[in-house]
Amino acid sequence: MQNYIDAETAPEKNTGTIKLHNAEAFEAMRHACQLTANCLDELAKLVKPGVTTNEIDKFVFDYGMAHNAPPATLNYRGYTKSCCTSINHVVCHGIPNDKPLRDGDIVNIDVTYVLDGWHGDSSRMYVIGEIKRAADRLIKVTYDAMMLGIAEVKPGNTTGDIGAAIQEYAESQRCSVVRDFCGHGLGKLFHDAPNILHFGRRGEGIELKEGMIFTIEPMINLGRPGVKVLGDGWTAVTRDRSLTAQFEHSVGVTKEGCDIFTLSPAGYTMPPYG
Ligand code: MF3
Ligand code: CO
Ligand code: CO
Repeated sequence: MQNYIDAETAPEKNTGTIKLHNAEAFEAMRHACQLTANCLDELAKLVKPGVTTNEIDKFVFDYGMAHNAPPATLNYRGYTKSCCTSINHVVCHGIPNDKPLRDGDIVNIDVTYVLDGWHGDSSRMYVIGEIKRAADRLIKVTYDAMMLGIAEVKPGNTTGDIGAAIQEYAESQRCSVVRDFCGHGLGKLFHDAPNILHFGRRGEGIELKEGMIFTIEPMINLGRPGVKVLGDGWTAVTRDRSLTAQFEHSVGVTKEGCDIFTLSPAGYTMPPYG
């Protein structure tokens, strides 16, 4: 049995109980998430060969500060950057540094702004110059997998329906789903209940109810699903060093389906953008 609680009366911490948010919360989430989406749109101009991930990080920090929205990752559990930049075989939580991006790289940029106390969490893939066909295919499979997962979001469906849709599609395309990281509830908290697994079986998991807010953020590999975390305690890479990709949207469950809060104002979906 799974417990749900009116988010208004819930303690502001992760108790494992699933918060159900009202229309006001959805509106606040839309604002935070659109700021994040706007930043990801703007980044399309900056992400070019020669730019360093620290320069990307500085843009994300400055953009947030200019809009009264601190990046949630800054000083989060010891993380010291304003975004994550995960290149090629880096699955997630890549730490920005002074290495320039190179022609042929693919990079996920993951941004979370906190606006008026609400978290807008989204990530997209970016491509640097000409990329290999396999990389292009992986990016398309990952984006489509995320959207197929989102298509399952409606009251009465379960978290297992989301995971199954993502896994079935990714594996049908001879790709694999990372098991070690998942989507998550969010709102006034960055990471809240429930976990949203990107694999699973239809009908299993938690029943979706109107008012739930969570992310869907599948990490899909060209090779095997295994990952390991490097000595810095953050950078997760594929064990077989195969290419990996990720997209992330924040969504809210509505009466009929869901709102995708982090849709691109510019209409960007998959790279190349613009
Ligand atoms: N934004 C990531 C997510 O999608 C979390 C990054 S936490 C960090 O949940 F500390 F690594 F930045
Ligand atoms: Co997230
Ligand atoms: Co994120």
